Formats: sequence, C-alpha cells, structure tokens
Amino acid sequence: MTQSKFTTTDAGIPVASDEHSLTVGPNGPILLHDHYLIEQMAQFNRERIPERQPHAKGAGAFGVFKVTHDVSQYTKAAFLQPGQTTDTLARFSTVAGERGSPDTWRDPRGFAVKFYTDEGNFDLVGNNTPVFFIRDPLKFQHFIRSQKRLAANNLRDHDMQWDFWTLSPESAHQVTYLMGDRGIPKTWRHMNGYGSHTFMWVNAAGEKFWVKYHFHTNQGIENFTKAEAEKMAGEESDFHTKDLYQAIDRGEHPSWTLFVQIMPFADAETYRFNPFDLTKVWPHGDYPLIEVGQLTLNRNPTDFHTQIEQAAFQPNNLVPGIGASPDKMLLARIFSYADAHRARLGVNYQQIPVNRPQCPVHSYSKDGAMRMDNVSDPVYAPNSKGGPHADPARNPVNDTWESHGDMVRQAYTLRRDDDDFGQARALIREVMSEQERERLVSNVAGHVKDGVKEPVLSRVFEYWRNIDSDIGARIERAVKSD
Ligand code: NDP
Ligand code: HEM
Repeated sequence: MTQSKFTTTDAGIPVASDEHSLTVGPNGPILLHDHYLIEQMAQFNRERIPERQPHAKGAGAFGVFKVTHDVSQYTKAAFLQPGQTTDTLARFSTVAGERGSPDTWRDPRGFAVKFYTDEGNFDLVGNNTPVFFIRDPLKFQHFIRSQKRLAANNLRDHDMQWDFWTLSPESAHQVTYLMGDRGIPKTWRHMNGYGSHTFMWVNAAGEKFWVKYHFHTNQGIENFTKAEAEKMAGEESDFHTKDLYQAIDRGEHPSWTLFVQIMPFADAETYRFNPFDLTKVWPHGDYPLIEVGQLTLNRNPTDFHTQIEQAAFQPNNLVPGIGASPDKMLLARIFSYADAHRARLGVNYQQIPVNRPQCPVHSYSKDGAMRMDNVSDPVYAPNSKGGPHADPARNPVNDTWESHGDMVRQAYTLRRDDDDFGQARALIREVMSEQERERLVSNVAGHVKDGVKEPVLSRVFEYWRNIDSDIGARIERAVKSD
C-alpha cells in the first residue's frame, strides 16, 4: 500500500493548505509572509528555460548499446570491445521549429545518442541524413536563420530558404535528400541515424582509421508523404513524441543496428574526393558497412524537463580510441555545443544527473552557479598534495593527424571528384525509383510555389538543372503549370 504523502515547501516544511492563501479573515487581503504562496508563484515564474537554438522540438528515451561484432582491430574504445553493454540516452528532434512546433514538418531529424561509458561520456550527435547543407561552419548560423523566421513578421519563409540554398550550391545533396521521401520520417522509430561526419578510430596498437557511423532502423524505413504529414501536423502535432513514448510504454522497444564504414588512414590523402567534406557520403561500393552492435531504447523518461530538456549532447565528448577529423564543421561543433550548454543550462550543466558520467570524475573545475559536487584540495595542478594527474597513456595526444600550411580563409582544395551536384544526381538517378522522383518533383514544386519569388525562383530552376537536367525541367514545368 502506498503511504500517503503530505505536502511540504521546497525546504521540506509541512504546509498548512493546498488551497487557501493566508489572509486577514476569509475576505481580507493576502499577507506578504505567506511564503508558501510566494514560493509557488516565484517558482512558476522561473519554470521555463531557454530552448535549444536549433533542434528545440524533440523527445527521447534511455536504452542500451550492445556490441555484437568484434571491431577491436579498428578501435580500442572500451565500450566498443566485444560483448560490452553500455547505458545510453537518445534524443530525436526537428531542426528549425520551436519547442511547440509540429513533429511532422519537413526537416532533417536530429539523432543524438549519449553513451555513458566507463571512460566518460561519448556523444554521437548526428542526424537522420548522412550529409549536411554546408561544409564551412561560418555559414551555419546564417543557414539556421534562413530556415527559421523573418525578422519583420516572424513567419517562416520559403523564399528565404531557397535564397540561401541556391546561393550555397554545396547544399544540393542534402536538399535533394530532404525533398525526397526521407525528408519526413513516419516516426522516429522508422528512420536511420548517421554520425554524418568522418571521425577517427585508433586501435590498441596505435593504428588510425577514418570512420563513419550508420544506425540502421530495425523497424524498417517508413515515411510520410507531404499530404499525410500536413494532415498529421494539424491532428497531432506531437505525433513523433507520442509514438516513441507509447511504443516503449507498450514494451515495443525500438532498435537500430550500428554499422561503420572504415577508411584506412592513408586513403584519405589520395581518395578521389575530400573524405572530410560533410556534403558527401562515402559510396558503399568503396567502403562497405561493417556491423558493430545494437542500440535499443527500452525506458521512457519520468521527468521530461530534467531528463530530456536538460540533456546536453556535445560532439567534443570523444572517448579514448575515438577522435575528430579535419572536417571543419566537426571542429567548429566541438566548440559550439559546450558553449551553448553553458548559456542554456549554466556552467555546471555536466552535473545535472542526465549528463553525469557513470564513471569517476577527477577534474579541477570548481565553483560556479549551481555547483553540486564538493570540491576538495588541492585545487590546482601540478601539485604535490595527492591531486589527480594526467595520464597520457590513457588518451594520447598523438591520436590525431598532422597539419601544416599558412593561415588562410579558403575552401577545401578541390580533388578530381569534388563537386556540389554529383552525389545528389546519383541519389536521384541511381537510388530513387520513378515514383520517388515524381514525389520529389511535386514536393519541390509545392514548396517553391509557396512564396518563392524572382530572382530566387529562376535560381531554383537552375539549381535543379545543375543537379539533373531532366528533374530541373520537370520542376520548372510543375511550378509554372497553373
Ligand atoms: P548504394 O546504392 O550502395 O547506396 C544507396 C543508399 O541510399 C542506400 O543504401 C540507402 O542508404 C539510401 N537510400 C535508399 N533510398 C533512399 C531514398 N529514397 N532517399 C535517400 N536515400 C536513400 O550507393 P552509394 O553508396 O554509391 O550512394 C549513392 C547515393 O545514395 C549517394 O549519392 C547518396 O545520395 C545516397 N546514400 C548513400 C549513403 C552512403 O553512406 N553511401 C547513405 C544514404 C544515402 P541506407 O542504407 O543508409 O539506408
Ligand atoms: C543542436 C550547433 C551542425 C546535429 C545544436 C545546438 C547548437 C548546434 C548550438 C543546440 C545545442 C543545445 O542547446 O543543446 C551546430 C553547429 C554546427 C552544427 C555550430 C555546424 C557548424 C550539426 C550537424 C549535425 C547536428 C552537421 C548532424 C550531423 C545536432 C543535433 C542537435 C543539435 C542532433 C540536438 C541535440 C539534442 O538532441 O540535444 N547544434 N550544429 N548539428 N545539432 Fe548541431
């Protein structure tokens, strides 16, 4: 039998009433020393925290990651060794919409996974697309603004979106993916996740490899058409949130198989296009998928705010055996997220229970607002007082790559197969069926007809002709058809 609980203040003091403020007689004024009423009002006024700048709308769940195949020849990361099981948190999201926006708007979906490993937290902060719109982080802020709202009327605006895209031809591959069937997953359970960037793996012998991560959904890929998504946005704007929660609640635990593509370290120098360019995939034919393990989500949050809204994913959380690559976007993200968390959650955000590592922490950080952990002396290093000391053997600084050159502001050096349109064209011509191509044309035409004006409109036709002359012509005909 559950024991009935009595209400207390936040200080644990029993309160006299859940219903009545303290007044001078039943009809008299409220008294300032009704500190319980004041606590209720003050707490309520401070309940909202800033939403994430991009990826504000989302939800997630806890689960486990189990290694099923031996990849120890490529990485020494402890949690990726044969038989290992690691607790995880996953959060799925849309990018451009605000916290209350519909789940089924056409947008890439965030696919962020935190692995609570014995060597610290490893965060894989990916999307449901293997590529991205841009390849230089200086354009990221501008890109996100172009997808959000106009300054004057606070409306989303397709003219602004296509203005940015058509002036940024490197977006062609991701825009083709987005305007295709996978631009609106039916549910989060029915989509893949990709680390998108190239990362580094290092094995126990110190050999380095380049790696890309692919989470394949075990539920099968399913998408909504434009019409289905628009209907759902009206009927149940939290459709994806609800679907994930209810599936886990029913015991239907969604799972994904993690695969990697491995590129030998030296191949990167001579590969036919820049393997660190985030607008490109590595063709499966060149670098086949290698199975690693299973991610299963099996536990819903019990408090959305503390477990999901306050979750802080950061691509700089890379554990020994896993490193970054010369992808400029990844390198910028390695700064950006921790900075965002300090602004959104406060400097001690890593002590919020959902972000806490499940291994001992011996850092020299101290103090700051909302610090939870006691700090003990010595508070500096080096010291002769028994404080922690860095052990380079655990995370060698040379698990990285060499670089040289003058300081410049320049695009990546072009290689033979580096271009903006080739992989988008391959997606249309070699991967999509004729029905998918038809839906692509109609999705683009519908989007463009909704507010895109000259001179952007002409550039839209040229953009699609550059990707594929036939699709470009079909889109132009469809836009001009009535
Ligand atoms: P493959 O034929 O080996 O791969 C094509 C891949 O495309 C599939 O494995 C699947 O990826 C994905 N795909 C299938 N249908 C769609 C769709 N409607 N919309 C978007 N993606 C779809 O060829 P390549 O590896 O040479 O790649 C050819 C093109 O496929 C690329 O230019 C890229 O646009 C796209 N692609 C490639 C991926 C890669 O990592 N190589 C990943 C995703 C897309 P998955 O198995 O991940 O579901
Ligand atoms: C969220 C920055 C590119 C995936 C965010 C946030 C910032 C940000 C500031 C909000 C973080 C928060 O408040 O919690 C950037 C920058 C990028 C970039 C500067 C490029 C230079 C990408 C790319 C991907 C991605 C390429 C995927 C491959 C995500 C995801 C989230 C997110 C999934 C939400 C994480 C969560 O669920 O909390 N990004 N981003 N971002 N970003 Fe990026």
